[in-house]
Amino acid sequence: MSTYSALPGGSWSLGDLTVSRFGYGAMQLAGPWVMGPPADRDGALAVLRAAVELGITHFDTSDAYGPRFTNDAIREALHPYSDSVHISTKVGGTRDAQGGWPTARRPEELREQVQHNREVLRLETLDLVNLRLGNAEGVVAEPIAESYEALVDMQNEGLIRHLGVSNATTEQVAEAMAISPIVMVQNMYNIASRQDDALVDMLASEGIAFVPFFPLGGFSPLQSAALSAVATRLESTPMSIALAWLLQRSPNVLLIPGTSKAAHLRENVAGAGVTLTADDLAELDAIGG
Ligand SMILES: NC(=O)c1ccc[n+]([C@@H]2O[C@H](COP(=O)([O-])OP(=O)(O)OC[C@H]3O[C@@H](n4cnc5c(N)ncnc54)[C@H](OP(=O)(O)O)[C@@H]3O)[C@@H](O)[C@H]2O)c1
Repeated sequence: MSTYSALPGGSWSLGDLTVSRFGYGAMQLAGPWVMGPPADRDGALAVLRAAVELGITHFDTSDAYGPRFTNDAIREALHPYSDSVHISTKVGGTRDAQGGWPTARRPEELREQVQHNREVLRLETLDLVNLRLGNAEGVVAEPIAESYEALVDMQNEGLIRHLGVSNATTEQVAEAMAISPIVMVQNMYNIASRQDDALVDMLASEGIAFVPFFPLGGFSPLQSAALSAVATRLESTPMSIALAWLLQRSPNVLLIPGTSKAAHLRENVAGAGVTLTADDLAELDAIGG
């Protein structure tokens, strides 16, 4: 039985798919620098199973994580998937032997990546595919039509249910929306990196999810005196407060914090439901100001 309504934040509709707003980002399950197999394979499978037990129904992944190893772990831990579980993946990039993240957004490259995700995750139809734009350094202002239209073609063929964009400028979000509906934008954003504030609000008014990657600061975990002070006052942790702040930021914000440890996952779920008062929010808002 799904318990997502008991998770902090409740649920959100990605098109016709209902997911828990508290999701799980699977990138941390691959080896160091997101290359190679998990250092602790049993631990990786345990985190994924713990997520489902906690009622999490939204999982974020990419075939580029590992590459392939993260999707392998998801399949091994969760297949056959419960009807309530929904997996978002992303295409548009690949990996090189040095662990770099070269872009790969020609239509034939995207088709190959969609096929890899379908095969490894063992899914006929992928629930949600984000077109990952820009590069490892950040967003890049460039047209997206050829790549996005290739994904729309695959959606029309029944290979993909819903589309989104990731690492996108506001102009690229608008370009995608003008071609075919998106249900998600997945960009870097957290309590200290607020460059997408206006985009979060615009998407909320359109009923589109905003999914922050690096919600806890990613490879450089968030550190802030104000965050620590609020956490101490509320007898919580900085990570929990950072997640609670995101949940209270806007109802269209979905969480996909990453962790390789079931104990951290449980701690984050337990802590993210704390209610932040207006005074707490004012103090926290100043971090990204
Ligand atoms: N669209 C994109 O371009 C893109 C880019 C990057 C990431 N993503 C997605 O976004 C998800 C989230 O990003 P992320 O995983 O890179 O970064 P994150 O969620 O901001 O932070 C993950 C880091 O926080 C640590 N952590 C988590 N809970 C903790 C706790 N309670 N106490 C102490 N440390 C804790 C984890 O370490 P432990 O493992 O030790 O817990 C890990 O090092 C990824 O998993 C991936 O699915 C998407």
